[in-house]
Amino acid sequence: MLDNKKNIIGVFDSGLGGLSILKYFLKELPNYHYYYLGDNARLPYGSKSPETIYQYTREAVDFLFKAGCNLIIIACNTATAQALRRLQTDYLPKYYPHRRLLGVIRPIAEEIANNKNSKRIGVLGTKATITSNAYEIELKKIKPSLKVISQSAPLLVPLIEENWLNRPETKMILAEYLRPLKKQRVDTVILGCTHFPFLYQEIVKIMGKKVFIPNPGALVAKSLKDYLNRHPELGLKPVKKPVRKYYTTDNPKLFKDLAERFLAEKINTLKQVRIEAQK
Ligand code: DGL
Repeated sequence: MLDNKKNIIGVFDSGLGGLSILKYFLKELPNYHYYYLGDNARLPYGSKSPETIYQYTREAVDFLFKAGCNLIIIACNTATAQALRRLQTDYLPKYYPHRRLLGVIRPIAEEIANNKNSKRIGVLGTKATITSNAYEIELKKIKPSLKVISQSAPLLVPLIEENWLNRPETKMILAEYLRPLKKQRVDTVILGCTHFPFLYQEIVKIMGKKVFIPNPGALVAKSLKDYLNRHPELGLKPVKKPVRKYYTTDNPKLFKDLAERFLAEKINTLKQVRIEAQK
């Protein structure tokens, strides 16, 4: 039994990056209610300690559950890597036993590990995601023979949040981060940070067309579709007039400008919020 019947899917990211995941939810599963929360005020998560990332993520998740979400997708790789498991085992059963919390690393890793042409896999992520080894662990759980080369790319997130997508400085830094992956002749690159798909064209240009670079949003949307089919008890059903609400912990004007550009659609409901755990 659900303790709330609001029928909403929550999507959380440390900032705007999760919009690269939400974009595919809106495309593949448009008839659901979505609440998006970006913790822009405290971004970047990727250079913070595991404990801080856990606390921030818990506060964010708490906010979305209180707002009425039945299911939350932690769209942030960093938060998934450092907080998801602990939240699922310590927090969820105690405070929200009938709600669900999912991350992005497992569905992406599953899809890639099962792709027969992916043998040498490059993972690009924040410092916290790369240090957690979460991708390598998940990939090798499915296929131990995989070679995984991980590279952290800490400077990219602030550049993307500043909308420096086409600046020569950004391209130069990106090329520097991709160099070790090229040198190791990876056949696949996992964009293990929600911000990186915004640099997709440039990454393809540098790595070459032969390297498989799947869009994480598409993989996660596919997995969410499956999940919803398998879990009718969550009461998440398509509706005729879906509601989309956006929340940010920082300046809403800045969020709106960039988010509308990233999503290529208008944002009508946007609120600045303070989030703090009340549990
Ligand atoms: N969105 C986060 C991720 O997917 C990275 C941004 C940050 O460092 O806060 O890892």
